[in-house]
Amino acid sequence: MKKIVLIALIFFAGINLYSQEEDRFYATMALNDARELLADKPGEIEILAERGNEAAVHMSHIAAEALHDRILVHGPGYIFKPDAETAVGALDRRVVRDHSRIAFTITEDPVVMQVLNLIDVQNIEDHILELENYGTRYHTFASATQSAVDLKAKWEAMATLYGRTDVSVRLYNHLSTQMPSVIMTIDGAEFPDEFVIVGGHLDSTSNQGNNDAPGADDDASGIASITEAVRALFEAGFVPKRSIEIMAYAAEEIGLVGSEEIAADYSSNNVNVTAYVQFDMTNYNGSGQDVYFITDFTDGTLNSFLMQLMDHYNASGSHTFTYGTSLCNYGCSDHASWHNEGYMAAFPFEASFGQHNPNIHTASDTYSFTGTAEHAVKFSKLCSEFLIETAKSDGLLAVAEVPAEVYNIYVSDNTLYYSFNDFEADISAVVVYDIVGNSVMRLEDPDNEGSITLGHLSAGMYIVNFTTDYSEVVNKKIIIR
Ligand code: BES
Ligand code: ZN
Repeated sequence: MKKIVLIALIFFAGINLYSQEEDRFYATMALNDARELLADKPGEIEILAERGNEAAVHMSHIAAEALHDRILVHGPGYIFKPDAETAVGALDRRVVRDHSRIAFTITEDPVVMQVLNLIDVQNIEDHILELENYGTRYHTFASATQSAVDLKAKWEAMATLYGRTDVSVRLYNHLSTQMPSVIMTIDGAEFPDEFVIVGGHLDSTSNQGNNDAPGADDDASGIASITEAVRALFEAGFVPKRSIEIMAYAAEEIGLVGSEEIAADYSSNNVNVTAYVQFDMTNYNGSGQDVYFITDFTDGTLNSFLMQLMDHYNASGSHTFTYGTSLCNYGCSDHASWHNEGYMAAFPFEASFGQHNPNIHTASDTYSFTGTAEHAVKFSKLCSEFLIETAKSDGLLAVAEVPAEVYNIYVSDNTLYYSFNDFEADISAVVVYDIVGNSVMRLEDPDNEGSITLGHLSAGMYIVNFTTDYSEVVNKKIIIR
């Protein structure tokens, strides 16, 4: 009898040991967190390596829970790694790259202004609802994979609608999740091997049960924002010199799994990524400013370029919004995957950290909580500004010119007179550019016939640009005396 008890004990102890071992996994996390955990829960975590303010660890789920409870407001606080070698290797991945191929200039006012006017809040709302309606996009569910398949079809249809033969969309299959990521590529007309990339995560999660994880703000909003930015680029007929990619990642919520595999793949193939911008949570207006640039795990040069873009395009006029800065305190989204591979990455976020949407990772992260997509529109605008100014225009495709017979435009006494006769389309905007391309005056939705006083402009040559609601354009040189 005693013998049996002993054997049983050894047996169960064995199972127990075994299951504890199974329960452990490898990860990277902030070094401070790892040290505090080690002090709180010795035996539940082992620090394998340290570098800078990061640590590679082997930890139990007890340690993971303790970490989660301490960081509370956001997720696990670690990045899962499949094995020790990958975890330790991740600390060494800070590759030094040549960033000299981009000068970060702002030169594309005409195209940017045209695109900003095309961004449509309704499309963003529709897309968020479309994604929310999968019920869950948690990476292990069939509905998550379906959402990726459907997004690929949606992006393909968008390219077809605007007659783009320079666009392709692929599913990217992963090793560590069954859910694929989705990648759209717009081939660069001049430098096809240089990529500017924007992304967000397509998967969702809920700590109330992953079968109900609508993920409207986190991160249907980001996917909808970048999709609308690209749609507007297409509508304007924008052809990039550099290649553009937009990415919708799988399995971000379990530790940046999709983006890490892709960034590591690009890195090991030496893909020249000019710059990367992450859009994760764009539709909850929770702070005094509109856009908060996360300054950790991101690139200072790229952050200040995005701020310059906003100073230039969003400081006044009909596309005004404001920015501030904030911290995530660790690699809280997919920008970290690119940053960790040495690429320039940025993460403009919906609010100051801590004032973000309180419903994320719950069944209540639905569109109805915000009830408007006005906040996300700002991120869509920033996204298109970034894409146009970094990929740069190689001209406009498929933009029809208004036939000369139907309009009359002239300047007399420093007043611009114009009329569009027998004309089906409506004029959606009039913009006056100076000779270096800065917009000096704009008017939205004017009448098809009218006059505009230009007396306040200094003498010189200008270009006046009329755009119709069918995206037809008229550019006319005028002289102010
Ligand atoms: N969208 C969040 C990131 C986030 C949340 C940023 C709140 C700022 C404020 C993202 O989907 C997420 O949940 N990330 C995890 C970390 C990731 C490595 C699993 C998080 O922040 O806990
Ligand atoms: Zn999340």
